[in-house]
Amino acid sequence: MLQTDPAIQIQGLDFSFGREEARKQVLFEINLEVAPGEFVIMTGPSGSGKTTLLTLVGALRRPQNGRLISIGHDLNALRGIGLEEYRSQLGFIFQLHNLFPALTAFESVQMSADLHPDPEQNKADRISQLLGQLGLGERQDYRPDRLSGGQRQRVAIARALIHQPDLILADEPTAALDAENTEIVLNLFRRLAAEQGTTVMMITQDARVFEAADRLVQLVDGRIHSDQNTNAPQAP
Ligand SMILES: Nc1ncnc2c1ncn2[C@@H]1O[C@H](COP(=O)(O)OP(=O)(O)O)[C@@H](O)[C@H]1O
Ligand SMILES: [Mg+2]
Repeated sequence: MLQTDPAIQIQGLDFSFGREEARKQVLFEINLEVAPGEFVIMTGPSGSGKTTLLTLVGALRRPQNGRLISIGHDLNALRGIGLEEYRSQLGFIFQLHNLFPALTAFESVQMSADLHPDPEQNKADRISQLLGQLGLGERQDYRPDRLSGGQRQRVAIARALIHQPDLILADEPTAALDAENTEIVLNLFRRLAAEQGTTVMMITQDARVFEAADRLVQLVDGRIHSDQNTNAPQAP
């Protein structure tokens, strides 16, 4: 069997906010390896460092100590165009998704699609199809003020996925969703991971969704407290 490189490789990663007396360390000695196509859920109490870790992997912060390699990019060394290239391969779903008030659901996703080079002719079809998969087929021409919180969240998810990223980084993407829409989003992530080899790293505090992932990583006080496979083969 061919040995594939990990999608994400984190070694001895620390992170502190502030400097001198105000310095506060929030991540300690993080070691984590994620395989391509793996769906990892990261959980843990509020303030345990989950968002900080995700933004480091997303290259929204620069690593201070330790090594961080993600989908073939050494994030300690990445600058300029390399950084832009790396970010364009990500689908980042933020905890606070800001949709432009003037854009309809379709236009929001289209704007994201237009930012990525794409030789495909049928972009409009793909946008409609993705919005449809996320249960927004009837809402494509609605602006945010006419969408519920959960619908807006799903527009933000469509916006992050339309360019078929290699790595999805999602910070509590289902927090505003009911059970049915949570299931829709998790199924979409699972399918992208299984069929397209997309690696997914998702933060959630909702224990009901843990089993959707291949793996559950728990952070407590800035350290990895546990790291376990969730769908190991079941006994017959
Ligand atoms: N920009 C920041 N400046 C200073 N401290 C921060 C900043 N962002 C987060 N923190 C602190 O870092 C710790 C971890 O925060 P965070 O990564 O947001 O945790 P989580 O996502 O698990 O709730 C918390 O103590 C938080 O107060
Ligand atoms: Mg957070």
